[in-house]
Amino acid sequence: MKISSEERDIIQRILQHHAQGTTDMTPEMMANPVENYASDKVLEAEQQILFREFPLILAHSSELPDAGSFLTNNDTGMPLLITRNDAGEVQAFLNVCRHRGARVEDRPCGKARAFSCPYHSWTYDLNGSLRGLPGAVGFEGLKKDEHGLVPVPAFERFGLIWVRPTPADQPIDIDAWLKPMEEQLNGLDLGSHVIFESWKLDRDMSWRLALEGFQESYHFCHAHRTTACSNYLDNQSVFIQHYPHVRHAVPLPHVVDLADQTPETWDYRPNFMTQNYLFPANFVQVMTDHVYVHTIIPTGPGTCIFKCQMLIAEPPKDERAERFWRRNYDVVRAVFNEDFEIGENIQKGLNSGANLNFVFGKNECCLHYGQTAITDALEQRLKVPLAL
Ligand code: FES
Ligand SMILES: [Fe+2]
Repeated sequence: MKISSEERDIIQRILQHHAQGTTDMTPEMMANPVENYASDKVLEAEQQILFREFPLILAHSSELPDAGSFLTNNDTGMPLLITRNDAGEVQAFLNVCRHRGARVEDRPCGKARAFSCPYHSWTYDLNGSLRGLPGAVGFEGLKKDEHGLVPVPAFERFGLIWVRPTPADQPIDIDAWLKPMEEQLNGLDLGSHVIFESWKLDRDMSWRLALEGFQESYHFCHAHRTTACSNYLDNQSVFIQHYPHVRHAVPLPHVVDLADQTPETWDYRPNFMTQNYLFPANFVQVMTDHVYVHTIIPTGPGTCIFKCQMLIAEPPKDERAERFWRRNYDVVRAVFNEDFEIGENIQKGLNSGANLNFVFGKNECCLHYGQTAITDALEQRLKVPLAL
């Protein structure tokens, strides 16, 4: 059992908060214009910047198990084809034929040696290179090497696959981008986990409302009165800003027992649920013995997709283990549903005129940090670092 200095600090802060009846706070409250949840103009800027220029987690490594495994993804509005090539590398392309634009691969996932366009059978290999075209005489002089599938930046790190949904002029430095979260993500060993369940929901709420449900614990004992409330200390969280990402540590009640133990014997994971916000639209939510990875993507004004994968360390060994994880899954679906029902009702009241701004309390730190990073990105102050 080894904990990081950050985790030791989180435990110390929580013990202090518990002793004093306090929680982490920002210096001031924050007003967030309701427009940010309801305006077409804001949404358009978000879609063009947050969901085009920043890498998003779109898959777990186990979804591309072998050379030739592929996935398609249309959630961001960009048709993407994500592959694993013979060298084992993950790559991603616009899933658009270079002849006359047909969708090259329509299946959600599978295995292939090559991708053949359904329209006139132009064929691309796993690296996106154009390999063959029927009736080649009609295309004499066509430079095949200039007609490969258009690549978009894709990365496999910590057992997760990130894709930036649009081509980049220069290579981006994903390691620098994820550096602030590296220590923690490394420690989770997600690459060796398996997916127990994967689900995708269309919800009638701004993607921001879905996002914000995971950025504070203030609501737990109200919105989740009969579900999550008793599992955690009420409204006592530690927020570590790893700009633009955030680690939000929510303590389990028995963390208070650590006050009687020497810090050398402290353990972190059994005592916390951690909601890691990975800018702009993902969470890696770490439970004591399993992990949820969320992806939240706007599909229109007041609508979004919520995708989630439940990752466990190994496949269930027997029926008992299966039942155990199934119960966890059922609970989390119920808890998230409580959030989404509230979120959809918020959406319905947005245009009522009751609020010009929402109030972010000092205790809702990740709402402040997340909003600040989003504003920075929309105003071009925050960008993904480029690789040198
Ligand atoms: S559009 Fe793909 S082969 Fe013609
Ligand atoms: Fe919630």
